[in-house]
Amino acid sequence: MKNVVFYGGGNISQAVAEGLIKSGYEKNKIFYVDRNPKNKRILEKLQINNLEGNNTVKVDLFILAVKPKDAINAYKEILKKYERPKIISFVAGIKSKRYLKINQDIEFLRAMPNTSSKFNLGITAIFNSSFRKNNLKKVISLFKRIGMTIELEKEVKIDGFTGMVGSGPAYFFYLLKSYEKKLMSLCNKDKKKVNDIMVNLMKGISLSIEKDNLDNLIMAVASKKGTTEAGLKSFKSNKLDKIFEQGLDSAIKRSREISDE
Ligand SMILES: NC(=O)c1ccc[n+]([C@@H]2O[C@H](COP(=O)([O-])OP(=O)(O)OC[C@H]3O[C@@H](n4cnc5c(N)ncnc54)[C@H](OP(=O)(O)O)[C@@H]3O)[C@@H](O)[C@H]2O)c1
Repeated sequence: MKNVVFYGGGNISQAVAEGLIKSGYEKNKIFYVDRNPKNKRILEKLQINNLEGNNTVKVDLFILAVKPKDAINAYKEILKKYERPKIISFVAGIKSKRYLKINQDIEFLRAMPNTSSKFNLGITAIFNSSFRKNNLKKVISLFKRIGMTIELEKEVKIDGFTGMVGSGPAYFFYLLKSYEKKLMSLCNKDKKKVNDIMVNLMKGISLSIEKDNLDNLIMAVASKKGTTEAGLKSFKSNKLDKIFEQGLDSAIKRSREISDE
């Protein structure tokens, strides 16, 4: 893949583009199409090119990254201007067959990345609909530049990855908000100190997960009748695990609903 175009240059495109640039992908091979002035400014800062006005560019790959409500229109716009395009859809919910019903003469696949791609720590689930084998290989190596890839054998699984991985970072940011609130009062509202504490905590947690299983890690912190045990008991009696699971299920359900809308 040489020239890659992000069709819709919002949050997820910016994260993936940043990761690609960090991985050494040449900026002059990354393009965007976007109508939102704020996003255009961010993309220009990243020094990637606006496809509009660049009529001679041979596009090798489109990444469709607009909200689900805009997806079919944006897809049709691509088809109007480009013959037999290769298109990757980041769009949650909308199934391949809806796109392929409009035009089958394309190579199409769905990919579900997350915003950690920005730091080359992304997780991208991929379901191939009609990419040729050699082109699929190229797509996979493109996403490997920004983290890990998971190939899915069934399209239905992408809803699970949308709810768990695409949306995943937000759940942990959300949980950290209560943590941040308490730390702010402990650290006399010193935002920098609070941020540093949270960063070290999360870095330590990720290194720990690499080394041991979660039950052992909990046991290594919690001692009988200690503070951790008191905290954990309260979480358990308030069924925090069930509440968290319900949240994940709701996200997966929503992804399925979007496919039916
Ligand atoms: N954000 C994530 O972490 C994440 C992760 C995985 C997958 N996804 C999926 O990726 C897609 C994009 O999400 P996002 O959060 O990046 O959305 P976003 O921030 O709203 O970005 C979408 C951009 O596309 C523009 N746009 C829409 N239709 C267009 C068109 N026809 N021509 C030109 N520009 C157009 C929008 O402009 P306006 O603002 O003017 O509408 C907006 O700037 C969604 O379908 C989502 O399900 C997102």
